[in-house]
Amino acid sequence: MKNQTLIQLALDYFDLAPALAMAQAVHNEVDVIEVGTPLSKSAGMLAVRTIKELCPDNLILADIKTPDVGGGEAKMAFDAGADWMTVLGAAPLDTVKLALEEARSRPGKEMFIELTGVRDIISRAEEWREIGVERMVYHRGWDEGNLSRTWEKSDWNTIQDLIGMGFKISVAGGINLNMIGFFKGLDISVFIIGRAIRETPDPAAAAREFRAAIDSFQMGR
Ligand code: 5RP
Ligand code: MG
Repeated sequence: MKNQTLIQLALDYFDLAPALAMAQAVHNEVDVIEVGTPLSKSAGMLAVRTIKELCPDNLILADIKTPDVGGGEAKMAFDAGADWMTVLGAAPLDTVKLALEEARSRPGKEMFIELTGVRDIISRAEEWREIGVERMVYHRGWDEGNLSRTWEKSDWNTIQDLIGMGFKISVAGGINLNMIGFFKGLDISVFIIGRAIRETPDPAAAAREFRAAIDSFQMGR
């Protein structure tokens, strides 16, 4: 029996007020609410704390993409109410170890490696697997997506290899409704969707459409 694929709404805002309004409008339609990287810089852990209070039944991911001070940043995010946090794939292995240690010391908390900009994914993944990392965000970066990079068969293959190595994979990066089929055949753990939900006339309805598409995708996987 495969696990149910989750939907994560990414709140990539530069101000807290619109992020709170969007969280309120959509939280019943998604499983995870992400405090996006720009929001976590502009409003900090106040954003995490406030969104957790507003959406107590959702998992909260703090997409802080930690590059260093792994233990301290993981503690900060978890103390503010995040269930999940991200560490940048380019971070030293010691940073990953310390963030992972912090997550493991607290029930229900998890650390994800964020793959933005990582080129040698599989060889790094072997190191991460050795120290016990379980989850990754396979991310076609925002800027890459806007300027030069499309989702390719090589991405599909790498995701399949990572799943084969035992990782639970979240996918992100300009994913829209038409692209869900691209991931067919892969046991995706979490679909992360930002603009394709937020930037629509009815974000809650858009989230429901993603749910239907992902449910039918799951049936066929
Ligand atoms: C940017 C991110 C975004 O949260 C991620 O790309 C998802 O947003 P979108 O679906 O709009 O691309 O982490 O660094
Ligand atoms: Mg993000």
